[in-house]
Amino acid sequence: MGWSSWNNFGPDINETVVRDTIDAMERLGLKDAGYIYVNIDDGWQRYKGSRAEHPLEVDPVKFPNGMKPLADYAHSKGFKLGIYSGPGDSTCAGYTGSEDHAAEDAKLFASWGIDHLKYDSCCSHSDAPQAEVQQVMLDMSTALIATNRSIVFHACHCGWANVWEWAAEEGANQWRIGQDISDDFNYPGNREKYYFDVLDMLDRGNAIAQYTGPGHWNDYDMLIVGLDGESKQLVGTGLSDLEYRTHFSIWSIMASPLLIGANITHLSSYDLATLTNKEVIALNQDGLGQAATLQYSSPDNSTQVYAKMLKDESMALMLLNRGTTTADVTVSMRRDLTVPWDVYRMRDLWKGRDLGPYDIPFTTEVQAHEAKVYRVWKVGCTVGC
Ligand code: GAL
Repeated sequence: MGWSSWNNFGPDINETVVRDTIDAMERLGLKDAGYIYVNIDDGWQRYKGSRAEHPLEVDPVKFPNGMKPLADYAHSKGFKLGIYSGPGDSTCAGYTGSEDHAAEDAKLFASWGIDHLKYDSCCSHSDAPQAEVQQVMLDMSTALIATNRSIVFHACHCGWANVWEWAAEEGANQWRIGQDISDDFNYPGNREKYYFDVLDMLDRGNAIAQYTGPGHWNDYDMLIVGLDGESKQLVGTGLSDLEYRTHFSIWSIMASPLLIGANITHLSSYDLATLTNKEVIALNQDGLGQAATLQYSSPDNSTQVYAKMLKDESMALMLLNRGTTTADVTVSMRRDLTVPWDVYRMRDLWKGRDLGPYDIPFTTEVQAHEAKVYRVWKVGCTVGC
């Protein structure tokens, strides 16, 4: 959990933005809610162009004091600092990359006190041979381990080459399941699918949910909560408050990394309440480390039920309305979720309200593009307990 600079700031990132972000995350209760990583994405490097022609250095105008004091500042406030590079000669935004310099760069990052590396092969490189991508990711993973510093490794390959099938074995802690997210809930048009909206990510992630587990996560991309269609980096026109909440519910129950992408200092109180709902976050951070999976879909796929078990043997449940009109959704423990719970109690995590106990299927009204999220506990059962 943390923040990443890209979705809002793109390459216009600097020391002041990072410090202000750290201060605001502390002040606004985001640190207390668990958002610890402050990740600087592409654009911190001094040179644009090829690594063969330029060294990898910090841009002295954007970061006049260098990275080490910034990492020290982050650490002094209880945060961790992340940075970005890629295995190419240059990065996606055209800055010098780490090609042929993995060991040297890993040492440099460790010497600064870096805690997280997003190592990005670039979404436009879908045609890179898989064996080559696997090798360069392994090179960096090995180099990071050799530094003896604990650095979270994001092997970013934009969902190409079935990265989820091999990245964990190479030591990656997270990998993107697709290209960049757009600031849309369910974009109606056709962008040749370069960008994925919220529902696209859900469908992609649900199909590969089994690859998520403790320490190695399907990454649904940085959160768009609070961008409000104003990002210069992302396409998309923004979501309603409720849709952003649904987006956050999905990322939480699917156990995606939660990296806020908005300008922290501009978040509305509604968006802050969304991002700091501790009971929803608890589903994301649960010790079993599972992603929920689709349990039931209505014939027209407009309403869906997702669920996963949690470490304390309760269940996380999400009732999603993808459609455009309010709908009733019914869930039966035995029929839909195949748990032998005849009597159960629930808590509505967005309303903060306890419900039940019930011994009948549960029915509720779900608004268009709303996700209702519950935690469910067994109270009793008669058969197959
Ligand atoms: C893309 C990546 C984005 C961002 C960008 C930086 O490949 O998907 O999240 O990191 O590169 O140039």
